[in-house]
Amino acid sequence: MHKRILEKLICPNTNLQPLQLYALEIKRKQELLSNLDNTSILPNDDIKTGILYTQDKRNLYFIYEFIPILLNDSDQDLIHIKEIHQKVRSLIPTEFIQAIEQNILRIENLNQSSDGNWNREEMKYYDAAVETAQLRDKMLQSIQNDNLWRIFIPRKEKMISHLEVNCNGQWIFEIGCGNARTVARMFNPATYKYNYIGTDISFKRLMVAKMAIPESDFIQASALNIPLLNNTFQGAISFGMLHHLPRPAEAVTEVNKKLSQGALFTYHEPVYTSRQFSEKQSAMVRKIFRTYDHSDHDNKINLKESLAELKNVNHQIISIVPYNSVFRVVFEAIINRFYKSWQKSKLVMKLVLVIDNVFLKTIVRLSNKLGPQAIIVVSKKL
Ligand SMILES: C[S@@+](CC[C@H](N)C(=O)[O-])C[C@H]1O[C@@H](n2cnc3c(N)ncnc32)[C@H](O)[C@@H]1O
Repeated sequence: MHKRILEKLICPNTNLQPLQLYALEIKRKQELLSNLDNTSILPNDDIKTGILYTQDKRNLYFIYEFIPILLNDSDQDLIHIKEIHQKVRSLIPTEFIQAIEQNILRIENLNQSSDGNWNREEMKYYDAAVETAQLRDKMLQSIQNDNLWRIFIPRKEKMISHLEVNCNGQWIFEIGCGNARTVARMFNPATYKYNYIGTDISFKRLMVAKMAIPESDFIQASALNIPLLNNTFQGAISFGMLHHLPRPAEAVTEVNKKLSQGALFTYHEPVYTSRQFSEKQSAMVRKIFRTYDHSDHDNKINLKESLAELKNVNHQIISIVPYNSVFRVVFEAIINRFYKSWQKSKLVMKLVLVIDNVFLKTIVRLSNKLGPQAIIVVSKKL
C-alpha cells in the first residue's frame, strides 16, 4: 500500500483512527528499502511488507505483498496470518514481537463466528484458482487480453459513464473487486486520474489486481466491515459482489457510511426473477458458456430489499437498468468457438458489436419482459 492512503484507513476492530505504520520493506521508485518508521516513509512509497497498528499496539495488521490485511478478529484467516508471521519474523523489530504474539492468541479465541466462517469459505474458493505465481500470471494475461464485452460494455455504459464525470482527483473504492478486471480495462485510474482503492476478501485475487494496476491500492477487507474512513469517498462500485454476502442489504449501509454527500454508488447484481433455475441448471449454463466461476455462496439479491436500503440511507436512485445477458453469453460463446481471434481484429470486433447491438435491441428487450437476470443500479447520497 502507498503511504498516501494511510489517512483514509481505520482499524477494523475498533473502527477508529489513526493507524500507525511501520515498514519492513518498501518500494521507492525502483529501489527496495527496509526497516523504516512512519516519519521516514514518503507518501508515494509503496509498502511491500509492514505493520499497521493502533497506538497501544492492541491491534496489529500485516501488510504483505503490498496488501494490508484489514480484517477484524472474527474474519481473519489464522493460517495465512501465521504463515506471514513465519516469513517476516526475522525482519520484525523487538518492540512488536510480543504484541504480534498477543494478537495472534486473541484471534485464535475469537475466530469462530458464522460470518467469519462464511468469509473464510469465500477466501478459500477465490484464492484456489490463483494459488500459485504461475496461475496468477495466467489470470493476469487473461484479464488483460480477453474482451469480455458482455460484462464490460454494460458496466462501461451504465455504471462507469456516471462515475467518470469529473472524477479527476476523486477517491473511489470498490467492494469485492477480485482481480479488478473491469476497472483495469474500462476505468483505469492512471487514465482517468482518480484515486482507486480495491477491496476484497480473497488475498490472492488481490495479488492479481495489484499486478494489473500497480499504481493503485488493494486491501483485504470484508464488504460488511470496510476499514475506510467515513464520509470520505466520492464513489463506490460493486460488480457482482453483493450476492456473495450473508446479508447483502447490510453492505449497502456499510458502503454508504464511507461516502461523502453527493457521492455515487453503483452496483451490478443478479436478481431474483419469476423464472428460477435450479443450482444444477445454473452450474450447467455456466459450464457450457464459460461464465465466470462462482463460490457456493451465490445467492441472487432481492432487488426490492436493496433499493429499500438505499432509500433508508437517504440515497436518490439515479437509474435502474434491467439486464438480461443470455443472448450476449450465447452469442459470444458461439463466436469464440468458431473464430476465437475475432477480438484481435478491430474491424471484426466492430462488426460483432454492431450485430450484437441490433439483436440486443430486439431479443434482449423481449426477454427482459420475462424478468431480468441482472440489474444495474446507480444511486446518489443526498
Ligand atoms: C463473482 S466475484 C466478482 C469479482 C469482481 N468484482 C469481478 O467483477 O470480476 C465475487 C467477489 O466477491 C468477493 N467476496 C466474497 N465475499 C466477500 C466479502 N465478505 N467481502 C468482500 N469481498 C467478498 C470474492 O472474493 C470475489 O472476488
